[in-house]
Amino acid sequence: MDTTEKIAKLKKEREEIIESASKRVPEDTYIDKEVKKISSIYHTIITDIKEETKDVKTFTLSADKNSSTPNLAPFKAGQYITIHLNIDSSPVTRAYSLSSSPSLANKDIYKITIKRVENGLVSNYMLDNMKVGDPLDVSKPAGEFGYSMIKDEENVIAIAGGSGITPFMSLAYAILEEIYNCNLTVFYSVRTYDDIIFKKEIEEINKKKKNVKFVITLTREEKEGFLHGHLTKEMLEPYVKEFNTVLMCGPKDLYRSMNEILNEFNIPRKSVHYENFFVEYEPAEKLEYKLKVVMKDKVEEITCKNDETLLVAMERAGIPAPSLCRVGECGYCRSILLDGKVKMIGASLKKAEAENDYIHPCVSFPDSDIVLKLDI
Ligand code: FES
Repeated sequence: MDTTEKIAKLKKEREEIIESASKRVPEDTYIDKEVKKISSIYHTIITDIKEETKDVKTFTLSADKNSSTPNLAPFKAGQYITIHLNIDSSPVTRAYSLSSSPSLANKDIYKITIKRVENGLVSNYMLDNMKVGDPLDVSKPAGEFGYSMIKDEENVIAIAGGSGITPFMSLAYAILEEIYNCNLTVFYSVRTYDDIIFKKEIEEINKKKKNVKFVITLTREEKEGFLHGHLTKEMLEPYVKEFNTVLMCGPKDLYRSMNEILNEFNIPRKSVHYENFFVEYEPAEKLEYKLKVVMKDKVEEITCKNDETLLVAMERAGIPAPSLCRVGECGYCRSILLDGKVKMIGASLKKAEAENDYIHPCVSFPDSDIVLKLDI
């Protein structure tokens, strides 16, 4: 057999392996019941849009009483919902923390607060295109971030950067409404006075002088009544007690600098909880790979950059890949890696998932050409 024949034989064998693997049907045992539950869709209508700052808006979503979901599910402060949109005929999803009081869900209302981001497809679409009266489908609230009366300490220090303030507004309302019994100090780091989201609400809460307090630091402006500069150990010191729970939501740089400060206070790791809405990976060299997507009745081949997740590449190509949390947490996007190598960032697989070649495309960056089987 000459080299060309050998290559052709190997190619044929590889295709046969991929073909047979693509017919594998995942067993029911691997489909987590929780995943099924959080994938339920609620039909809502945008009933109010409030401009918080020049690039942030709060959307009030009310259950569509004429739909099959006239009531919304309850939620815990800190949870998120995933919105489902069709942009340029491509189905896309994004997760946003709920910024309203959990008690509003009893009135079938959710609020989400969205900030404009550079090249942010969904956030910018929401800000520029969605109007009062528009329908919006959302998933059931999900996520583990927030305060637990059973596990957490009564002295809660929240650290928010920019739009990371949203889950803490929900938590502040929950504490003021006595859903939780704890003290909350929110350190809110923001560039300038004009960038403060929920300015009026924060003022009103601080005036109450109850067990919730907001401390705002402006990193790029000096103004009376506000701290100035990045958060420091000295700023936190008066509020740190013997036992604390720390909640953080904001950009990764903030997490890095705050972790150094928290170490100085000897706050144990298990008492620090992070909200994570982003997955980043900086490859040493930027490359482009082929991504073959095997679906139930068709196969599509697209390109995928090694600094973007497989999920983003599929969405860019208009493939309706399933997703909810987008950070490797919920398991809803899991798909079978038939061929190739990926780097999965910040998420781990359950034993059964790993044994069956599952990956989470929302946190997987290609490290070779890829063949992926989607259950759609
Ligand atoms: S969308 Fe939740 S794990 Fe991927």
